[in-house]
Amino acid sequence: MGENTEISEFINLSGKRALVTGGLKGIGKSITSRLSECGAKVLVADSDPTVKQEETDEKVDFIQCDITDSSQLIEAVSKAAGNDGLDFLVNNAGIFPTTGPLEQATDEFVTRMLEVNVRAQFSASREASKQMNRNGAIVNISSIAALRGGANITAYSTSKAAIIGLTQSFAQELGPKGIRVNAIAPGIIDTPGVQEQLEPLKAGGLDISAAIAANPLRMSGNPDYIARATLFLVSGLAEFITGHLLVVDGGSTA
Ligand SMILES: NC(=O)c1ccc[n+]([C@@H]2O[C@H](COP(=O)([O-])OP(=O)(O)OC[C@H]3O[C@@H](n4cnc5c(N)ncnc54)[C@H](O)[C@@H]3O)[C@@H](O)[C@H]2O)c1
Repeated sequence: MGENTEISEFINLSGKRALVTGGLKGIGKSITSRLSECGAKVLVADSDPTVKQEETDEKVDFIQCDITDSSQLIEAVSKAAGNDGLDFLVNNAGIFPTTGPLEQATDEFVTRMLEVNVRAQFSASREASKQMNRNGAIVNISSIAALRGGANITAYSTSKAAIIGLTQSFAQELGPKGIRVNAIAPGIIDTPGVQEQLEPLKAGGLDISAAIAANPLRMSGNPDYIARATLFLVSGLAEFITGHLLVVDGGSTA
């Protein structure tokens, strides 16, 4: 692929239908635009009602959906599948409020974290798999926090580690139906969600603005790096890859 080659000339997803959860902002927004650029018809399911439709790509459809609400989730999956069936699901929606010191992490806080980041991803994959075509692909967004814990992020790191098990088991269960299931572990990526956490994390001793570029490549974590990895995993280039966790972190965990 030459330097000026468009990715869409290399990966052609025309005729494919995709559902991206949490696709209005940050990593999900980049994933949505890359899938769309390569020809896929994308439905974004996001709970945020404040982002206006006109701020999003006009080729992309939107449904307001809190992934923890079963009926909203089922409606989103059906809308994304249409009459032709679904080809890709990107389980991107997630929350990462700082846990804070252990003694401040209430049961309600931990339950909510697991509800959004694990239980809802589980349900989304189950519902999507019912309407998914052969050669379909699911990509779950985990995190390097699944591989390395950290003080003050215990609940988040626990939720993202669970995604590895979920990915491996779904890969085994759905493989015979021609559906591949993989996960991505992003390093620290500069997104609206991370920006909101800068101050609380700094107070907890983690300077994320410095950490964003603290990797051997000395590159700042950009949402498009995760979008490109997603394109690879859903495309035919990865047809023999399933149950895999792809770390995309500029080498920070190397
Ligand atoms: N940014 C990072 O450094 C980083 C690193 C590793 C993993 N991740 C993971 O990547 C994913 C995206 O992160 P981001 O940084 O782009 O986040 P973000 O907060 O910038 O955007 C998340 C999007 O998800 C939506 N969302 C949240 N809860 C939802 C729900 N219940 N139902 C539907 N939509 C919901 C939000 O409205 C928002 O549009 C998350 O799963 C996150 O844990 C992020």
